[in-house]
Amino acid sequence: MIPVFSVRHVEAAVSPERAVEAVREAFVAYARGEWSMPPKVYVPAYPAGDFRAMPAIGAGHALLKWVTSFPGNPARGLPTVTGLVLLSDASDGSLRAALDAGAVTALRTGAAAVLAAETLGRRDAETASVIGAGVNGRATAKTFLARGRTVMLWDIDEQRARAAAHELGAGMARSREEALAADLIATVTPGHEILLPERSLQPGQHVSLMGADGPGKAEIAVGEVARARVFCDDWEQASHNGELAHAVEAGAITQDEANELGAVLVGQAPGRQSPGDITIFDSTGLAIQDLAIALAAMERADELDLPTLDL
Ligand SMILES: NC(=O)c1ccc[n+]([C@@H]2O[C@H](COP(=O)([O-])OP(=O)(O)OC[C@H]3O[C@@H](n4cnc5c(N)ncnc54)[C@H](O)[C@@H]3O)[C@@H](O)[C@H]2O)c1
Repeated sequence: MIPVFSVRHVEAAVSPERAVEAVREAFVAYARGEWSMPPKVYVPAYPAGDFRAMPAIGAGHALLKWVTSFPGNPARGLPTVTGLVLLSDASDGSLRAALDAGAVTALRTGAAAVLAAETLGRRDAETASVIGAGVNGRATAKTFLARGRTVMLWDIDEQRARAAAHELGAGMARSREEALAADLIATVTPGHEILLPERSLQPGQHVSLMGADGPGKAEIAVGEVARARVFCDDWEQASHNGELAHAVEAGAITQDEANELGAVLVGQAPGRQSPGDITIFDSTGLAIQDLAIALAAMERADELDLPTLDL
């Protein structure tokens, strides 16, 4: 019998706080070469969206996430991100669990945005904002709140920001400019519009760029990337399908100038070097993060009344 974690089971099993710790452990294990991750495969179905197949292996388990990004879906009452995570035992190949991919993704995306902000932001950072109050923006705001920070939300759709702020107990920025002036910013939009044009960031700010995780998307101008100290989740993914792809194409950044978050966490690479640095973190979303959440969920499997699959 294979346990199935629906959205509510994933959320009951893994708190945002636990997600941050689990995702931190995943970045560390990956940086140390203990966990590995074949490249994410994009299966285009444009203009509607795309499918992604994301495998990873570590801690005695293998994982596959089959997940979508269909940006036009919310207008039709459907989620942008949906699919399934399969967790298997790496010693004999047996299937151990199936989990809702949207819930796992939201938890690990919020966790990565906040982990990067905590690792790379100024020590005395006070204000935090999340731009984009959709599924993953809300998860990011929830994670900031769980870590004891106040957070303000901004969304092009004011009603959505208001509803999310009310639901989470977050604040609302009065304007996009106010949101973009925070010490710690997470951008979680579909990446159709540049939110951070050249010379928009101030010394000392940190931005976790979460939205541009596929071809043709961008939340920051190439000229602004060139002004910042650059970090990413994984150079291979970020330089091909992430925010950094545009900067690499334009010759504005090379691999030597970008450090991976895991390398910073294990002390192999420097993080922020002065309070005046502008730091940016390009997240494309890694299967190792999903593996970390799936393993954390399994720790609580016995406490939950989970439905099962009998294959
Ligand atoms: N990096 C990662 O690990 C990761 C993980 C999941 C999703 N994503 C990406 O993040 C993005 C958001 O995903 P989601 O599931 O939250 O989508 P969603 O559709 O639920 O939410 C997107 C939100 O952004 C708002 N928005 C759109 N344009 C905006 C703008 N110019 N300024 C401010 N707000 C704007 C929308 O009104 C909506 O509320 C997508 O591009 C998705 O592919 C990245």
